[in-house]
Amino acid sequence: MPNNTSKPTKAWVITGPTSGIGREAALQLAEHGTVVLVGRDLGRLREVEREITALPNGNAVSVVADFADVRSARRAADEIGALGLTIGGVANNAGGMQTKGGSSAQGWDIAFATNHLGPFAFTEALLPYLADGTPVLFTVSGVEDPERKPATASGFRGGRYISAEASARGEWKEGGSKNVGFDAYATSKQGNLATVFTLAREVPRLRFMALEPGFNPGTGLSRDASPVMQFVAKRIMQPLAPMIKYWSTPRRAGKLIAEKLTTPSTGTGVYSDENGRPMQASKQVSDPAFSGRYIAETRALLAQVPAEAG
Ligand SMILES: NC(=O)c1ccc[n+]([C@@H]2O[C@H](COP(=O)([O-])OP(=O)(O)OC[C@H]3O[C@@H](n4cnc5c(N)ncnc54)[C@H](OP(=O)(O)O)[C@@H]3O)[C@@H](O)[C@H]2O)c1
Repeated sequence: MPNNTSKPTKAWVITGPTSGIGREAALQLAEHGTVVLVGRDLGRLREVEREITALPNGNAVSVVADFADVRSARRAADEIGALGLTIGGVANNAGGMQTKGGSSAQGWDIAFATNHLGPFAFTEALLPYLADGTPVLFTVSGVEDPERKPATASGFRGGRYISAEASARGEWKEGGSKNVGFDAYATSKQGNLATVFTLAREVPRLRFMALEPGFNPGTGLSRDASPVMQFVAKRIMQPLAPMIKYWSTPRRAGKLIAEKLTTPSTGTGVYSDENGRPMQASKQVSDPAFSGRYIAETRALLAQVPAEAG
């Protein structure tokens, strides 16, 4: 429960606040009101909650959600709604780069489920609790664009979407990356952009935004890498990040998320880069016919998981 007597006016929902970019964003959002911390591990959530409540006027509340489980994601949205807080904005930031494969609670590809299906189900379930003008941001990734140089240089080949059913089975369009997990990651993050662009068209009363946070070496995203690679990413690459084009740090990216959410604006369907400037998505996902199909197929897939009785 919010645990400070000076009642802030707004609450800010952030998913994936237990590590990397999301943790920094949560600390920044604490300056603007109550932070609703949404993650899969209550112990880790409580650590961030304690850190926030130790700040002057810091308020936080934890809600458990495993985004690799559609039911858990929907339940979390209803739990947040039941808190009765005035939601100022939502940052859909949780995500992972699963290089070992695996299946979600519904038996779907783990990356597609965690990065796209869970956050999409969560967002749709949260919509009734959002007042007009509320911003909803997704932390996306430029690796969805097969023409983006820093992404292709790292071995990505863009989103490889065939259909939502095929993605759920872990099948990607041919001609993809040689690296395990890259096509799944790029395709699932393309789903976040398809979500932002489609919901911006469908729900004009809210504001949907996408943020490419830049390459942030040393976050938990590389947790599957070898201990040596993790050391290099954290101790060598992260300090260099502020000097390198397209790179960033969790602090900078987290600050940007908080700024984008808390700065009044009227724009929707807006995509920004690691400096907060307008960014172009891939030709594919910029096409309303493609993003609309992606989301229509997502909804059809999610309909296979019936809503739980109230
Ligand atoms: N780092 C980069 O270079 C980069 C670049 C572009 C985009 N991004 C995006 O930025 C976002 C944050 O990534 P990061 O780099 O900060 O990585 P990170 O340090 O690994 O943080 C990921 C967060 O997502 C949570 N999460 C992962 N799987 C989850 C699940 N099944 N259910 C609930 N929460 C889950 C993690 O929770 P736990 O603590 O419980 O694991 C953690 O809080 C992601 O969406 C990522 O795709 C990152």
